[in-house]
Amino acid sequence: MRTTVGIIGAGPAGLLLARLLHRAGIESVVLESRDRAYVERRQRAGILEQGTVDVLRAAGAGERMDREGLRHDGIELRFDRRRHRVDFPGLTGGRSVTVYAQTEVCKDLIALQLEEGGPLLFEAEAEALAVEGAEGDRPRIPFRYQGREDVLECEYAVGCDGFWGVARKAFPGGVSRVFERSYPYAWLGILADVAPSHDELVYARHERGFALLSMRSPAVSRLYLQVPAGTDAGQWGDEEIWDELERRLETDDDWRLERGPITQKSVTPMRSFVHEPMRHGRLFLAGDAAHIVPPTGAKGLNLAAGDVVTLARALVHERETGSPELLDAYSATCLRRVWQAERFSYDMTTLLHRAPDATPFDARLQRARLERIASSRAAETDLAEAYTGFPLA
Ligand code: FAD
Ligand code: DHB
Repeated sequence: MRTTVGIIGAGPAGLLLARLLHRAGIESVVLESRDRAYVERRQRAGILEQGTVDVLRAAGAGERMDREGLRHDGIELRFDRRRHRVDFPGLTGGRSVTVYAQTEVCKDLIALQLEEGGPLLFEAEAEALAVEGAEGDRPRIPFRYQGREDVLECEYAVGCDGFWGVARKAFPGGVSRVFERSYPYAWLGILADVAPSHDELVYARHERGFALLSMRSPAVSRLYLQVPAGTDAGQWGDEEIWDELERRLETDDDWRLERGPITQKSVTPMRSFVHEPMRHGRLFLAGDAAHIVPPTGAKGLNLAAGDVVTLARALVHERETGSPELLDAYSATCLRRVWQAERFSYDMTTLLHRAPDATPFDARLQRARLERIASSRAAETDLAEAYTGFPLA
């Protein structure tokens, strides 16, 4: 099998890249090792930055998002039983975010790709086994499809295959540099059939640990609790989860947490990870294949979108002008944005979580950092700018 751009992985990065290339008249093939239902149901991110929304719209994938997505103009920080609202448009010159789940972004992009785009092989488990020849003119991606082994020959190979994928392994040891940090806690996430108890997201710092109130729609709540790393979701009973959420989200006013049937429970580990560079010869990495952020800043999906927008633009530029200038700049361009997101996600994580070895000094510092945000327009603007996202280019 031959194509121009061989894409490994049909998560948000691979699907959006295929869509952007299709719109620019560049052929691609997407290989995905899981089945369609799995990719469409995998509960993950929920917040789209303004820039991601604009890109999806421009790619002709914004119709349902514009109908069903919820525009949010702020978040609430909760600490010491107090509430502080951060007003995004007022602080950033009009920017906001949109609540529209990753599952829905993927469903929309898959439907468009199958209707209009190049091959998207996943129904029968198209698993890429490796990337070969990245340093030559035609990289090769051996893959397994419907039980048989085949090879995808391409001009460019792109690893959009997430943290556990194969593409990163094709970088020679002497080229790869990895920067990482793990955290001694994780998130227990639930989906519940109950209207969200607040109309904006609530990020809470509590001495028992972090809690987050989010949503998927006006009728479905998404909530998270900080739990120790290695926790099994089955260890937590439904009522126990609601009791703990209530404790951590409690305020001094008459705010109440509404409970409802829990339909899904899962635990997400937390890590910061960056692989440099993001390009080797004709192999490019995008999204979680190259970097992971802890979820507290809601940056993972948005970073993946930023990478593939940069890459699509560079591939189109090369095709139109013959100049590899933007492809050569790909890694450095993305890494500037990636490290800003790493910084912000780390700051939000350490601001709101309780480390198991936290001292009373650490707790006082967290409170001082929160009070600074609540009382200084400069500090609050810094948070609002990073949360709503820096320009994608
Ligand atoms: P992925 O979505 O991981 O997609 C990679 C795809 O490649 C997968 O479909 C995988 O099956 C496929 N693949 C892997 N190996 C191969 C192979 N060899 N051959 C073919 N296909 C392959 N971000 C937030 O902002 N908020 C959140 O709440 C949040 N929660 C998360 C929860 C979990 C459990 C995880 C893992 C991530 C979460 N994230 C969250 C991060 C966000 O979902 C990711 O940043 C985003 O999915 C990145 O998209 P991606 O396309 O780069 O990678
Ligand atoms: C969601 C996830 C996040 O990581 C976050 O910071 C906000 C919301 C969510 O899944 O809704």
